[in-house]
Amino acid sequence: MEGLLITFEGPDGAGKTTQVYLVDEYLREKGYNTLVTREPGGTSISEEIRNILLNSVHSEMDALTEMYLYAAARAQHVKQVIKPALREGKIVLCDRFVDSSIAYQGFGRGLGMDVVETVNQYALQGTEPDLTLLFKMDIEKALNRGRARSGCLDRLEREKLEFHRRVYRGFCVLQEKYPWRIKEIDASKSLDDVFKQVLKQIEYLIYCKK
Ligand code: TYD
Repeated sequence: MEGLLITFEGPDGAGKTTQVYLVDEYLREKGYNTLVTREPGGTSISEEIRNILLNSVHSEMDALTEMYLYAAARAQHVKQVIKPALREGKIVLCDRFVDSSIAYQGFGRGLGMDVVETVNQYALQGTEPDLTLLFKMDIEKALNRGRARSGCLDRLEREKLEFHRRVYRGFCVLQEKYPWRIKEIDASKSLDDVFKQVLKQIEYLIYCKK
């Protein structure tokens, strides 16, 4: 079987990362070969770009610079890690991917969906997620949850509520545009309940691809 790329998306603090690890454990127990990775990051070059992107000292960063840096980190990640893993038939679980660029840079920063999609086409080199789980919940609650967990805030987390609302709207627009790929997860529910919703989507995908 060709591998599968499953991406986890949503606002900061919606609990995606915990679910990525739960799914990984579950799939490994079932005998699947998996790879957990994240964006921005996943390779040493992309992790260095991540440090620049999230470092709150860089408050002067221009929106276009930001978009290109996320796309540059993604190009390296896709080439070095994601494509080879898919060729080996792995199930790749990626914490954030291209939809985050469209939501954060396209809608949050106001660069627009078309520009961000066009630039990212080069970074993606034809790689598209087979399934995207979109974690949705009240944006203020999500942000507070994230803040309570991490303590210190990165450059994006420091943005105003209005920025995060635009990002959220961006995710909703994407969900409407790609309903066959993007599946909604009600992230306001308990950890167990969210895990059940997530597994339902993943098992269905695996069943369809068999
Ligand atoms: P991270 O700590 O990984 O966030 P989270 O735990 O919420 O997933 O930080 C990544 C930040 O970068 C997050 O605020 C979303 C943002 N981001 C973009 O703005 N564009 C992108 O393309 C990606 C992948 C992330």
